[in-house]
Amino acid sequence: MFIQLLIWIFQFCLLIPKAYSFSTPKHDIAFYYKTHASVSLTNPDNHTTSYGIYVAGKTITIDIPTSVVNLSEILDWKVVNPNKDRLMFVHKNNPYILINQQRIEKMNYSGELSDSIIAFGDNEALHVPTISNPNSIKPVHTWNYIELLHFDDSNEKVSVLRSLPMLKDDDWKFIKEWKMMDYIHFDDKLYLLIKRSIWNQKAAKVTQEISIIQLCLDKGSELISSAVEVHFTRPEFNTNQIIDLFFVYIFGPLNTENHRLEFHTTQLTSPNIIKTYQTYAITDIVSLFDQTANESAICSDGITSLRYHLRSEVAKCNETIYESCSTTENNVPSRNVELILPGSYTFFLLFYSLANVLHKSQFITLPYPYLRINILMHTRPLINSAICEYINNSVLHPCLNFNTIDSSLISNSLQGNFYINKHPFGFIYVDKETNNFNLIPIEMCSHLKTCAHCIMYGLYSDCIWSNFICVHDTQPKSKAKQTVDRCNKIINISPLIFNSSLPRRLTIKLARPLINASEEQIVIQAGDNLCTDITMKKSIVNCSMLLTTSGEFKINISLRSDRYADAAAISAVSTDKVNILAPERRHDYTFVVILVSFSVTLISLSLLLACVNYNNKYRNEFLVVKSSTNIMQMASKNIRSALSSLSRSRSYSTWRSTSKIIVPKHSK
Ligand SMILES: *[C@@H]1O[C@H](CO)[C@@H](O)[C@H](O)[C@H]1NC(C)=O
Ligand SMILES: *[C@@H]1O[C@H](CO)[C@@H](O)[C@H](O)[C@H]1NC(C)=O
Ligand SMILES: *[C@@H]1O[C@H](CO)[C@@H](O)[C@H](O)[C@H]1NC(C)=O
Ligand SMILES: *[C@@H]1O[C@H](CO)[C@@H](O)[C@H](O)[C@H]1NC(C)=O
Ligand SMILES: *[C@@H]1O[C@H](CO)[C@@H](O)[C@H](O)[C@H]1NC(C)=O
Ligand SMILES: *[C@@H]1O[C@H](CO)[C@@H](O)[C@H](O)[C@H]1NC(C)=O
Ligand SMILES: *[C@@H]1O[C@H](CO)[C@@H](O)[C@H](O)[C@H]1NC(C)=O
Ligand SMILES: *[C@@H]1O[C@H](CO)[C@@H](O)[C@H](O)[C@H]1NC(C)=O
Ligand SMILES: *[C@@H]1O[C@H](CO)[C@@H](O)[C@H](O)[C@H]1NC(C)=O
Ligand SMILES: *[C@@H]1O[C@H](CO)[C@@H](O)[C@H](O)[C@H]1NC(C)=O
Repeated sequence: MFIQLLIWIFQFCLLIPKAYSFSTPKHDIAFYYKTHASVSLTNPDNHTTSYGIYVAGKTITIDIPTSVVNLSEILDWKVVNPNKDRLMFVHKNNPYILINQQRIEKMNYSGELSDSIIAFGDNEALHVPTISNPNSIKPVHTWNYIELLHFDDSNEKVSVLRSLPMLKDDDWKFIKEWKMMDYIHFDDKLYLLIKRSIWNQKAAKVTQEISIIQLCLDKGSELISSAVEVHFTRPEFNTNQIIDLFFVYIFGPLNTENHRLEFHTTQLTSPNIIKTYQTYAITDIVSLFDQTANESAICSDGITSLRYHLRSEVAKCNETIYESCSTTENNVPSRNVELILPGSYTFFLLFYSLANVLHKSQFITLPYPYLRINILMHTRPLINSAICEYINNSVLHPCLNFNTIDSSLISNSLQGNFYINKHPFGFIYVDKETNNFNLIPIEMCSHLKTCAHCIMYGLYSDCIWSNFICVHDTQPKSKAKQTVDRCNKIINISPLIFNSSLPRRLTIKLARPLINASEEQIVIQAGDNLCTDITMKKSIVNCSMLLTTSGEFKINISLRSDRYADAAAISAVSTDKVNILAPERRHDYTFVVILVSFSVTLISLSLLLACVNYNNKYRNEFLVVKSSTNIMQMASKNIRSALSSLSRSRSYSTWRSTSKIIVPKHSK
């Protein structure tokens, strides 16, 4: 019977299609919504040759001599794997591998790469080719609209795993431009922001459009076939050329929900060739995607298929069954959104006045518990640049104007670029000619208002809790000292003895109440014995001890967040120990039978798990805390409601403000 079971499992294993080669990446706090850069300077105060490399929630530190690469070049690398000895990256439209930090070699790839690369880890990356074909010339390489690439470090070659290819060989006649301008990730969704110009033969007209494509990261390598898009055009796009385009999204209190997610553009107006700054918003975008996919399944009017739309053709619609994030092969449902809201924030007022000298804008938002926004306006000349911070509707900080910064680099540099440095966090300006740089730090610690937030979310940004405030401190410090018994202490626990005939309810008295843990998970343990079913009242915490391992253990109550790759767990540990007597296992016949069947089940299960795991590598990293998946769902629900409409969100939502907000007058 056992053999049969094994054979069955083996067969089952073979039947599971091998898919989903990467899992939804868990990102660091500063890069939660977007991976702003792959490479950072680890010590800008005294920069030598040490760089931090960030790829999908993993960071390594690596030394690369200046004889191998220059500062202004390395910061442009789009790295796809965090492997010190065989580091693969894309730079200036080519894939390369850095071997042993000493030698850079070109990797073999048959196509052409742009810098629109989003790395997922596992040596895989999404690539959105940049197509620029204003004169409709037949290209050398046929293109894909989106492709998933695999970077093979042992054979030093890059291959296309999945793609959204041209519909027909002559798509080049219709696509004048296709370029990803920005993207954001929200948990398991990825949103690409694309600008494009398409030629409509019948109307003899070029249409400039903005497109937002939603992909489902939890589909792993099948993500492209989960694509859904919405797009829009505007009368001004007939005459103006969009030269810059990025997402702006605001969490925290806001006066108009309709404008949580905006699209900011710089446009070159014709005929007078001046630049203007214009913003747009679409209401309730997340449900718009669901609706589009849903209505596409039943062949509603108004929904087309992306690749047909690009050719201005009408496709015969095929009815399917609607499923969220379903794989629809290469039929990407697409909808034209008519209702576009022009947007404007008082905060962005400076943008309008700077538009004509604006070179490039960069938007950074820090997630919960920071909920902060920074926008950099890089102008040419550099001296007009500014960094603005948005806190909430009632507090408007003045922008930091570069003309107030005393720096010879900033006043003399002719050509350079801004990069976002992950740690230390800030904007870094690098002069192209001299490789000199300036770091303008972005404040993190002071935004964390409780000890628990300061340590959990600030530990890796060098925050410490001192005199009841969270401050930046770069002195070396022991992680254990910062995380154990730092923010809270266990004063008392009772009872001290647990066995099967005594009550299992444990009462813990803490020095102060725990923070409202809506985004965090509380875990209580005595050695390996978990204490579950937690109730709390002020600083008293109760839970039920599960008796699994006998012995004497200290009680450890910890708070963690499974949302970010770099959140630290904090804990309080009791001085007293509890004595646990787990129920004894009786050594009789029943026990042997149970043991044997248990082992068989276990072996089968682990085999099964192994094969499922093999297919869905790392899909679910965090299984320890039962509630974590729930929290994740809640979190994405929060984002959803934050993005769409707060009125529908639960009272639980962190982004919801119940207090009245003083709304500054909009001015245009
Ligand atoms: C800069 O780093 C080098 C090498 O690590 C070290 O020798 C030097 O003392 C440092 N300088 C300062 C000012 O910290
Ligand atoms: C680094 O930059 C300097 C000055 O711009 C240049 O001479 C040198 O060739 C560059 N080195 C590399 C490895 O690119
Ligand atoms: C690149 O790949 C092609 C096709 O697989 C092969 O013919 C060629 O030799 C490879 N080039 C290098 C440098 O490995
Ligand atoms: C899908 O569309 C149908 C018909 O319009 C509607 O009844 C249903 O509620 C929709 N489902 C979702 C998930 O939007
Ligand atoms: C509908 O199915 C046909 C045949 O499989 C296919 O050629 C066509 O592209 C499909 N339509 C769309 C919109 O994908
Ligand atoms: C706005 O931020 C300030 C400073 O952090 C804070 O005191 C104020 O309560 C906030 N207002 C709202 C409505 O959240
Ligand atoms: C549990 O502990 C109590 C108190 O020490 C003791 O009286 C009782 O016999 C124990 N029960 C078991 C099942 O060990
Ligand atoms: C914690 O949550 C409770 C109820 O949800 C609320 O009344 C209280 O104000 C919250 N405390 C803090 C510090 O947010
Ligand atoms: C914890 O348990 C004690 C004793 O069973 C009880 O008196 C107290 O009300 C409980 N407190 C909470 C917060 O559940
Ligand atoms: C307490 O539990 C947490 C989470 O399981 C763990 O990270 C930490 O090391 C434990 N602390 C001690 C002192 O046992």
